Amino acid sequence: VIFSNSKEGSIKVAREIADLIISKKTKGKLCVLGLATGSSPVKVYEELVRMHKEEGLSFKNVVTFNLDEYYPMTKENIQSYYYFMHQHLFDHIDILPENINIPDGTVSVDDLHQYCIDYENAIDQKGGIDLQLLGIGRTGHIGFNEPGSHFNSETRSIILDSITRFDAAPSFLGIENVPKKAITMGIKTVRKAKRIILLAWGQNKSSIIKSTIEGEISSKVPATYLQRHNSTTFILDIEAASEL
Ligand code: GLP
Repeated sequence: VIFSNSKEGSIKVAREIADLIISKKTKGKLCVLGLATGSSPVKVYEELVRMHKEEGLSFKNVVTFNLDEYYPMTKENIQSYYYFMHQHLFDHIDILPENINIPDGTVSVDDLHQYCIDYENAIDQKGGIDLQLLGIGRTGHIGFNEPGSHFNSETRSIILDSITRFDAAPSFLGIENVPKKAITMGIKTVRKAKRIILLAWGQNKSSIIKSTIEGEISSKVPATYLQRHNSTTFILDIEAASEL
């Protein structure tokens, strides 16, 4: 779906999320959201915060699982996805702290493998993700599933692509400060979500959006795996859609 700008697209996505939260609440159920970081979802979070403050949208029945986190990374670090999520969303809504799940960038190397298995199991124990929000990296990564990621990959640690580290360099004040690794949900973890919404804004996403939507399904562009998912919508602005 192509919108004239990111604000209009973000409002539409926030409305879908809010409607899902409300419909789950009416049924007395939890709403399990898979959340993303990066600049792409920022306006969606802004709109959800506005709905909470102005329309009384409650997040008390919401459980969240974030896609990824740099590794190693402390929670206090302003580059952490933990910090990002609190700054843009969690600090401004009534979600219960125990319902927030973000991969922990402080687990020891020895515990990392088991930690990833536990993260994957925790999602299943909540009944799976109802709606997964995604951005896309220039390498075609979703979460931090870089080129080469397997269709059936699960939550794990991954070595970041050099393009991804280059793109993250400005916010880390230099590529040498960008962590070389991350923890990410896998492609299978994402594919298991009942509904997926991928957001992409701006001209610099137009080429990867073309490959993702029109290209052959391949581990070289992990986002192409979404072509096999039966309820995925790409929400684009005119610039991101310009090569389609
Ligand atoms: C990071 C995140 C991704 C995100 C991507 C694009 O690599 N791990 O989840 O989709 O950046 O970021 P942006 O939305 O800022 O373009």
